[in-house]
Amino acid sequence: MKKRVTKAIFPVAGLGTRFLPATKSVPKEIMTLVDRPLIQYAIDEARAAGIREFIFVTSRGKSALEDYFDHAPELESELRKKGKTDLLEVLKTTNMDSGAIAYIRQHKALGLGHAVWCARRLLSDEPFAVILPDDVIAAETPCLQQMVEAHAETGGNMVAAMEVPAQKTSSYGILDIKEDMGSVVSVKGMVEKPAAGKAPSNLAVIGRYILTPSIMENLTRIKSGAGGEVQLTDAIAREIEASDNVYGYRFRGQRFDCGSKAGFLQATVAFGMAREDLRDEFTSYLSDLMSSRSAAQ
Ligand code: G1P
Repeated sequence: MKKRVTKAIFPVAGLGTRFLPATKSVPKEIMTLVDRPLIQYAIDEARAAGIREFIFVTSRGKSALEDYFDHAPELESELRKKGKTDLLEVLKTTNMDSGAIAYIRQHKALGLGHAVWCARRLLSDEPFAVILPDDVIAAETPCLQQMVEAHAETGGNMVAAMEVPAQKTSSYGILDIKEDMGSVVSVKGMVEKPAAGKAPSNLAVIGRYILTPSIMENLTRIKSGAGGEVQLTDAIAREIEASDNVYGYRFRGQRFDCGSKAGFLQATVAFGMAREDLRDEFTSYLSDLMSSRSAAQ
């Protein structure tokens, strides 16, 4: 029987310099799309996929993230006194069972591979997930859940994948496809951030992974790669040579790159329009805005 995926690593140690000055005191993962921080979207997606243990790889200056998932007794009792049961329900989604969440520090920013490796002692001999909260994916069936279902068939290592424009390959891990079976592709190579024109395809890795424990051993052995950082992509690529069990999964859904300002704004608009309580007012504002812009041109 295949082992279930119940643990997920959330690398949240990054400095978020692209969002300075905001990220001087607010962790990037606490920045909000409408009224929920990025990290809440990631956690909700993980829960939907059956994840029960949440491992955060953090760094200095991220205490707001730890507080976010703690109980807030004063706030809760105040809301209870005022009879605001709807808000109490909203708060409940941020509560974690005791012991379900663990924090590990990454002392130096040595790359995504290194961040994942920092969590090695909290894993067992089961496959585990990695979720990059910068990649927010709007989907009817949450992306990681789709992957868990596909992984039940394939086993091995699986990365979320999406076609990107050829000139953008240098921003992603890129897959060298062995066999294309539609939503699942088997992979014969992986390159981190290849220059346009040097990429083996335009199928890019997006921040969702289901990985086997041997990836941790690979991370122990590999040297720093692209950008002088220890790359998760390189540790997965090693697994192709060792056991030929790496797959890409073309998920159904829309991905927003919330690590960039433009992507963050697009996600804000999309999630704002998707919200029933905001849709009418927000959509009519946007269409007025667009028509006044085109009238002015
Ligand atoms: C990371 C990974 C890269 C992947 C990307 C997806 O890069 O290293 O392989 O394609 O996430 O968002 P980063 O964006 O952290 O530089």
